[in-house]
Amino acid sequence: KSYEHIIVSRPDPSVVLVTLNRPKALNALCRALFYELNEALQEADSDDAISAMVLTGSERAFAAGADIKEMKDKQYADVYKNRFLEHWTAIANLRKPLIAAVSGYALGGGCELALMCDIILAAPNAKFGQPEINLGVIPGGGGSQRLVHAIGKSRAMELTLTGRQFTAQEASDWGMVSRVVGEGEGEVVKEAINMAKEIATKSQIAVQAGKEVVNAAYELTLQEGLRFERRIFHGLFATNDQKEGMTAFVEKRKANFTHS
Ligand code: HXC
Repeated sequence: KSYEHIIVSRPDPSVVLVTLNRPKALNALCRALFYELNEALQEADSDDAISAMVLTGSERAFAAGADIKEMKDKQYADVYKNRFLEHWTAIANLRKPLIAAVSGYALGGGCELALMCDIILAAPNAKFGQPEINLGVIPGGGGSQRLVHAIGKSRAMELTLTGRQFTAQEASDWGMVSRVVGEGEGEVVKEAINMAKEIATKSQIAVQAGKEVVNAAYELTLQEGLRFERRIFHGLFATNDQKEGMTAFVEKRKANFTHS
């Protein structure tokens, strides 16, 4: 299927790559782009052949934020009644892993979009930030909450109140991104695709369970989280993949998971 603002490709039978493609606006996240993005990701999430998804932008910009030109004249009544931005949450509710490969600007909603992904890899030129304060507003796509979890309150507060951009290295030092991927155009996307391919070799039931329990750490107390993890862990003993994985280890061979 072809879209106007995104490109959807299949670098591997098990992996979908979504590339934001609104270069003239530095991938500003207009409404139409977001609907396309949601549709493409939902489709991949419900396709049995797909195990993991990668989201990227261009060398210059992952995404420079929500589309300011589109937002500028909105009134409270419009944004409230139309639930402005609410549909963004669908991305955080995908079951399959979504890896962000960030080059260039990831500002405002762009940074928040990256934070909604399960894993972030950054190119050395990645520039993150929540500059909404300069526009007379605050983050509206989850940034104020997810940044606190990712990098701690003091840093999140500073960045939210000053709008200062931060580098790939800072994001990595603070634990917001997994790592900065080496120089070279497209390296970060290649690395993200390789990671997605590796995840695709695992039991997809275990992968989705792993994502579910890690995400639960955001919502639950430690005791509740530990209990939830244990229950999900117990449940995996009902799968063929657990039998296959452990038998393969004992027989010193590679596991052949059937995702059942
Ligand atoms: C609409 C945008 C845009 C945006 C860039 N453009 N960001 N259009 N919305 N968020 C457009 C510019 O208007 C321009 O088009 C073209 O992209 C290139 O941008 P330039 O500014 O000329 O490029 P440069 O000088 O290299 O500066 C890059 C930049 C700057 C630092 C990224 O564009 C910038 O500050 N952008 C806004 C970043 C921002 O404030 N983001 C937060 C948005 S609020 P024209 O046609 O005009 O030349 C937000 C709220 C989140 O995200 C709420 C929840 C989602």
